[in-house]
Amino acid sequence: MSEIRRVAVVGGGLMGSGIAQVCAQAGIETCVIEVDAGRAARAQAAIERSVHKGVERGKLSAADGAATLHRIRASTDLGDVAGCDLVIEAIVEQLEAKQAMWRAVDALAAPTTLFATNTSALPVADQAAVTARADRFVGLHFFSPVPAMPLVEVVRAITTSEATVATALAFVRQIGKVSILAKDTPGFIVNLLLVPYLHDAVRAYAQGVASVADIDTGMTLGTGVPMGPLALCDAVGLDTMAHVGRVMFDAFHEARYATPPLIHRMVASGWLGRKSGLGFYDYSVAPPQPREIRG
Ligand code: CAA
Ligand code: NAD
Repeated sequence: MSEIRRVAVVGGGLMGSGIAQVCAQAGIETCVIEVDAGRAARAQAAIERSVHKGVERGKLSAADGAATLHRIRASTDLGDVAGCDLVIEAIVEQLEAKQAMWRAVDALAAPTTLFATNTSALPVADQAAVTARADRFVGLHFFSPVPAMPLVEVVRAITTSEATVATALAFVRQIGKVSILAKDTPGFIVNLLLVPYLHDAVRAYAQGVASVADIDTGMTLGTGVPMGPLALCDAVGLDTMAHVGRVMFDAFHEARYATPPLIHRMVASGWLGRKSGLGFYDYSVAPPQPREIRG
């Protein structure tokens, strides 16, 4: 089992920036690769804000925060995967985009480098298949916000070798997270159960069952979850929710996995949740205020 010393994270959005942060916090030299200089700078700035917040909240010391930032580099050059022990992808939830990215990375990375996808629901095997290292390809499914959520699902595709699974489990321990082992079925364990619940909450709101605030208060105070389902949809990103719903519906053909039409209309309107400032809540005010969405 090989120790992971250098990691490249491809995609530095909500998940990639968090994954890069936790790798660097664990002492790993980390490079986060984005599509252009503007997005690379945004990823770097998001990581800096998150590390500073972690220091303010006492999650890590000021010295560890500074050392973490020192270990992270933002880049726009896929060639930076060379010399890495592990490449983790966290780009958009679209199979064609992920496959195109892996084809390029496979040609640039050393033959011994392990590949991992942070996909929410796409088959790991479909990504592994476009590389020449399907045995060294695994799913590592993180949860948002990555610095705060302790879990990583390790997903074994039918081609993943035992040695790769063992290294993935050891890596999850190395970065201070807890692993569970899942089969390569759409949504793995957590999203198989979580996605229909989030869809039901959106459909209940669209059907006029209750207000945004009352649906979320119902679930936080009535069932003890830390965040209501509509706030959680906003935190995940409504564009990502739509991609995940499409993947899971295509796989199961069951209505509960189909993206509710209201999510499509909100995405079309540019209301992506927290990341765009508007979703089921308005994030331009503190604390964020629930909205009423008509039509
Ligand atoms: N460095 C920087 N920031 C850190 C940190 C660290 N080491 N450790 C924690 N934080 C940050 C967190 O990012 C979080 O920031 P926000 O307030 O901006 O969200 C905050 O500190 C957490 O602080 P606390 O530990 O005090 O936690 P809290 O009581 O405020 O709870 C929460 C916040 C953890 C987000 C909680 O509300 C929660 O657990 N919500 C549910 C989240 C959830 O369900 N996530 C899964 C989404 S689904 C998914 O990810 C899968 C998919 O494929 C779609
Ligand atoms: P996001 O939209 O916040 O970030 C995606 C980033 O990838 C963007 O910054 C984009 O510029 C970049 N990107 C796109 N194509 C690229 C390429 N070819 N090379 C380099 N960078 C590229 O999305 P996200 O929420 O971080 O989700 C990323 C992945 O993680 C998706 O597969 C998603 O399903 C999965 N995921 C999301 C969550 C969540 O809660 N949002 C949780 C677990 C897993």
